[in-house]
Amino acid sequence: MLGIESSCDETAAAIVCDDKTILANLVASQMDMHAEYGGVVPEVAARAHLDVIDQVIDGALENAGLSITQIDGVAATGGPGLIGGVLVGTVTAKAIAVARGIPYFAVNHLEGHALSGRLSDDVSFPYLLLLVSGGHTQLLAVHGAGQYERYGTTMDDAAGEAFDKGAKIMGLGYPGGPAIEKCAKDGNPKAIQLPRPLRGAAHCHFSFSGLKTAFAQRHAQLGGKSDAITDLAASLQAAIADCLADRTKQAMQRFAASHGPATLVIAGGVAANATIFAQLEKEALKAGFGISVPPGHLCTDNAAMIAWAALERREAPDKLDFAPLPRWPLDPNAAPPPGQGVRS
Ligand code: KG4
Ligand code: ZN
Repeated sequence: MLGIESSCDETAAAIVCDDKTILANLVASQMDMHAEYGGVVPEVAARAHLDVIDQVIDGALENAGLSITQIDGVAATGGPGLIGGVLVGTVTAKAIAVARGIPYFAVNHLEGHALSGRLSDDVSFPYLLLLVSGGHTQLLAVHGAGQYERYGTTMDDAAGEAFDKGAKIMGLGYPGGPAIEKCAKDGNPKAIQLPRPLRGAAHCHFSFSGLKTAFAQRHAQLGGKSDAITDLAASLQAAIADCLADRTKQAMQRFAASHGPATLVIAGGVAANATIFAQLEKEALKAGFGISVPPGHLCTDNAAMIAWAALERREAPDKLDFAPLPRWPLDPNAAPPPGQGVRS
């Protein structure tokens, strides 16, 4: 299966076999193009995807030692994400499918992350998923491919956004997560007091916007003193980790009540954070859950997870009239967080 990912600022192509062998997994990052703006600029991203997508696919085929005639199916992220980029990947995949007469799969980007634990670690259904990326923070029971029960989502910012905005405030650049993790290594996580929104709440939802505001205030009070930056980074990381661990603990209780303890899978870019992993591992152990985190290159956006999500339903390809979806919730029937309308 040839997988294509282009929903944000990475143009990626991968080739994955049905026995989970990853023959190629290439990622061309546009990070440098967006760094000066402190976030991804959609129009810049779409044009950059168009510029490199053919090269990235050729590179993946070359790395795998395959010709395009040896590919049996092609999958591309069909949403959610920045629509210009999703269109580039979708049109490319459809063109290959038509030219080669092979099946086409429109993959939900979130499902790519959600099933990545099965690609790296053979996790069996059902499992509890903490999906933590730049745009999403969700807890879901995964009953099977295409079968998701959302327990909780964020009421405002995503965890990755809290990292990215915090880094922007401190002038650490984009993406913020890796920059904050690096800076936090030399800091004291207890040095600066920050709130833990929704800690102890009986539901499984998240909120990060109050934390972001409090962080901006502390940063302003410290007058941007350079020796405070490591403590600020460590304290923000600790607060985000505490929030994720507390809400996940709540979700493990809910999951275990119906299914017994199983595996906690952490997926999405923020799952690459070692402090967050260590804290979640402790909570999982206490709750009798196993834990699985894909290796870093399968946590952040990649096309191997897109190819794998298609292989999970290889008998059910999509029609070529599939239209990209900027919004595509994994559990369309999920109840919104308290006091809110519908949010994916
Ligand atoms: O899943 P992903 O690559 O893209 C989306 O689908 O959003 O996640 C990107 C997010 C960014 O917000 C980035 O700052 C965050 O993941 N991230 C991290 C780390 N690596 C990436 N956050 C914390 N620690 C990291 N090591
Ligand atoms: Zn992602």
